[in-house]
Amino acid sequence: MFDVWNFCPSVIFELIQRINSIQRVILFADQTGSGETMASGGSEAPKIVWSERVGRFETEDREAYLEYELRDGGRVMDILHTYVPRSKRGVGLASHLCVAAFAHAQSHSLSVIPTCSYVSDTFLPRNPSWNSILHQDLKSHI
Ligand code: COA
Repeated sequence: MFDVWNFCPSVIFELIQRINSIQRVILFADQTGSGETMASGGSEAPKIVWSERVGRFETEDREAYLEYELRDGGRVMDILHTYVPRSKRGVGLASHLCVAAFAHAQSHSLSVIPTCSYVSDTFLPRNPSWNSILHQDLKSHI
């Protein structure tokens, strides 16, 4: 008679492998905080919200943020601080926050002072096209 347990180990092993790989995708999506987009391919940006009242660009859950102050009568955006929770670091979330802030500054004709070291030492060297909207006195130093 056909014994199902003699036949099944390889099928069961295959099934376990598939479940493991699905779990890895879910875990990665969870760590990046943007389940829908990261799980379906990886390149779409997380949603960043401008919170004018507190001077921040932030993720929808507000856990990650970029903080700024306006100077010179509102014509200069001084980026003071960028923060991403430990569990979500290293996948470009701070970079997305910076892009949102720089795009906002550009569309509102603001110049930018990169006081935050992440912006001056990491984001700008990796995205030099944004140097064009730096505050005039800084352009020659970056
Ligand atoms: N200054 C400059 N660059 C920094 C940095 C800092 N203080 N902290 C981390 N980085 C670099 C890392 O070396 C990393 O480089 P790698 O890609 O070669 O490994 C890179 O930032 C990661 O970029 P990204 O994934 O876009 O950043 P992130 O989402 O991991 O967030 C911080 C980066 C700095 C916002 C996050 O580490 C953090 O919140 N740190 C604590 C607060 C802080 O130090 N803020 C910056 C000063 S205001």
